Amino acid sequence: MLIVGGHVRYAQHVLNQRLKGLSTIQRRDAAQHVWTSRTALGWGERAFADPKARCAEYAYGATRSLYRSIGRSLSILELGAMNGASLFCLQFQGVDIARFVGVDISAAAVHQASQHWPDESRFVFHCGDFLDYCRSTDSQFDALLVKQTFLFLDQDYLEQLIGVISDRGIATRIVIQERQRAPHLGPHSAYGNWGNTPVDYSHDYSALFGRAGWTIESGGLRPHPTVADTLLLEAVFVRA
Ligand SMILES: C[S@@+](CC[C@H](N)C(=O)[O-])C[C@H]1O[C@@H](n2cnc3c(N)ncnc32)[C@H](O)[C@@H]1O
Repeated sequence: MLIVGGHVRYAQHVLNQRLKGLSTIQRRDAAQHVWTSRTALGWGERAFADPKARCAEYAYGATRSLYRSIGRSLSILELGAMNGASLFCLQFQGVDIARFVGVDISAAAVHQASQHWPDESRFVFHCGDFLDYCRSTDSQFDALLVKQTFLFLDQDYLEQLIGVISDRGIATRIVIQERQRAPHLGPHSAYGNWGNTPVDYSHDYSALFGRAGWTIESGGLRPHPTVADTLLLEAVFVRA
């Protein structure tokens, strides 16, 4: 088992080194292949199969609290909506949703998501790149939901994305659930090997959001219960 684990880690290391050598555009292209794989699609199906366990995650509870404190149905944008698992979980948690837009680069995932709510015009799943969507939309939302998605983005891309979200006033709040290294290796990203996605990072989210004028309204960082040297950022950011 140890030998197999060592081989997998080595293979990930080699893959990451190769990916690091690619240009940004080539790397995004490679990421598209990863995200359209069967493994990625299967990941999202777990919530539909076991909502009691999967829908208990922080991001959904935090959105429910927001819904209760705002006192009306919410408009939500999710970046990295995959097959609609988050919308399903928010409904499972009893959050009333006036409008939900889910953006994802995987056409297969977006197709699956749309099939879950074929007759609901208030729920839209959009196939496209996060930056392209955020640059082109005129919509504004009560909350932007980001769950286990930003850690896979390049640092420069994420900085641009946070800039566009902030400058265009796309959301009043950001509900975020992401992983971070502990101790963090510096103000910028560090390469890690989490899961089966080849390139992933440790971003200093609080610093990145802080620079764009966001502060933590609730939640914060806590140690990951099972993964060594890893923190979970589970927080709601609000713009001052
Ligand atoms: C790990 S999954 C998201 C999981 C989902 N938020 C959840 O917690 O169940 C990340 C998703 O982001 C999408 N994605 C990654 N980079 C993207 C980009 N630049 N633009 C649009 N979608 C992207 C992938 O296709 C993938 O479905």
